[in-house]
Amino acid sequence: MARTTWVLGNWKQNLLREPARNLAAAIAEGLSAARGEVQDERLRVGVAPTFLTLDTVAPYTGEAAIQLRLLAQDVAAQESGAFTGEVGPAMLREAGVRAAIIGHSERRAHFGDHDTLVAAKVHAALAGDLDVVLCVGETLAQRDEGEHEAVVISQLSAALGGIQDPAMRARVVVAYEPIWAIGTGRTATPEQASAMHGVIRSWLASAGLGADRSVLYGGSVKPNNAADLLAAGDIDGFLVGGASLDARSLLDIVSAAAAHAAANSGS
Ligand code: PGA
Repeated sequence: MARTTWVLGNWKQNLLREPARNLAAAIAEGLSAARGEVQDERLRVGVAPTFLTLDTVAPYTGEAAIQLRLLAQDVAAQESGAFTGEVGPAMLREAGVRAAIIGHSERRAHFGDHDTLVAAKVHAALAGDLDVVLCVGETLAQRDEGEHEAVVISQLSAALGGIQDPAMRARVVVAYEPIWAIGTGRTATPEQASAMHGVIRSWLASAGLGADRSVLYGGSVKPNNAADLLAAGDIDGFLVGGASLDARSLLDIVSAAAAHAAANSGS
């Protein structure tokens, strides 16, 4: 069966209420205008606004194939309780969120989201009925040392190795985001991305998570490199930062993904 293709916009710490509303409205409108192009049910498009603008963006989102999906940029590692500053899975669900990005490199680098905490967040999210977009990726120094594959495999196994329930495993999407490519304008080459995706897919298969899991690429994805990355094979869409802050850019990336999903629909 063909794997689902994803285009997910990570808005990071950007956009006050009004620009968030305007951007969500423009993307949602663009998706419905491109109905024929994006109707393939193996294509999913979503955005992750800040926690405070989830309610603002929610009215423009939904669950139907063509609709924009609502994601969170993070989630607490516990269900609820005395955890100052945290936002739990049930709160996100109530706000209309269906999936959370977990383990983004910016959280790992700046906010102490180490492997154990990432694993706890993955478990809390899945137990709380949220799907998971797990981010993994190496630094430039690790790549230069030839450690990139080992680093990514160790992140995968720390975060996902303990998930036994097949139904939970089926709700995980992995995003490979080489840290040196995030926000730098320096994209991994299609060959580098595709090679790592192959490594990730083998690990997922060997860990029993299924070879049909979608594996996304993130790191300076733009309208002008999306099609080339998808053509490299083994890349099932994107987690997009900077380019997701502009409706036209994100929609152009969606068009490339739609063409990819359509071309692969028979496989
Ligand atoms: P970028 O960010 O597209 O701005 O490089 C990607 C990400 O952090 O998910």
